[in-house]
Amino acid sequence: MIEATVEQAVAVVRERHGGEAPRLAIVLGSGLGGVAEALRLATVVPYDALAGFPRPTVEGHSGRLLLGHLGDGAVAVLQGRAHYYESGRADGMAVPIRTLAALGCERLLLTNAAGSLHRHMGPGSLMALTDHINSSGLNPLIGDRGADRFLDMGAAYDADLRRDLQEAAGRCGLTLHEGVYAWFSGPSFETPAEVRAARTLGADAVGMSTVPETILARHAGMRVAALSAIVNLAAGLDTTTLSHQHTIDVMAGLAGDVERLIVAFAALQAA
Ligand code: HPA
Repeated sequence: MIEATVEQAVAVVRERHGGEAPRLAIVLGSGLGGVAEALRLATVVPYDALAGFPRPTVEGHSGRLLLGHLGDGAVAVLQGRAHYYESGRADGMAVPIRTLAALGCERLLLTNAAGSLHRHMGPGSLMALTDHINSSGLNPLIGDRGADRFLDMGAAYDADLRRDLQEAAGRCGLTLHEGVYAWFSGPSFETPAEVRAARTLGADAVGMSTVPETILARHAGMRVAALSAIVNLAAGLDTTTLSHQHTIDVMAGLAGDVERLIVAFAALQAA
């Protein structure tokens, strides 16, 4: 069923986009739509035209697949993602991720907004994921029948791509922290006790996305890099009341840095 939907989505994209096949795909988190402005845009495919693509319900996420060039590299950009908390399905990104892989994207950059577990990595900081903790108990491959559902996750986040992120950050004059991201289902934020537990388990940041996409992308044979934009200290670390509006507001101040970093990273992938 998912396979047929992917084939259909690939056919729609190929029909509308005659240009070069993308090699790098980028998933934009909340409030990062501005990357679209840096794109030499060739084709816009609204998710409405793509069966199996999400219908975003979250402010800050539009629903469009963009194809074009960032610098010299052909890229596909997903503006808008499905979160588990929107539907109760962990595989809401299965069709988009598999479509990107089928279109020729060998590499995937995932971006998100996250809460930090460290005061020295406060709002405005950037963190490259070295690994993740799936605190949700969910998995997008549950129900998959293939033998490859028993997916090795020993090196989920590609060390070479992380080096490229660091190189790109250096070129942009940005500090890029590295750490472990713990996935919570949301949509409520974590409690202070959950945040303490995550820290004890070895997490450095918490968030509500990315992990199922990483699993799906690794399953599809893609190399993955992921980047968290820290928009708050996690619950209990300070007295800020967390809300989606707070995420959007802080992200608005950070988006320029993240977008420059993405553009510099994409340039390294095209080199
Ligand atoms: N927790 C989970 N998701 C988030 C947070 C957080 O503190 N901030 C932004 N997204």
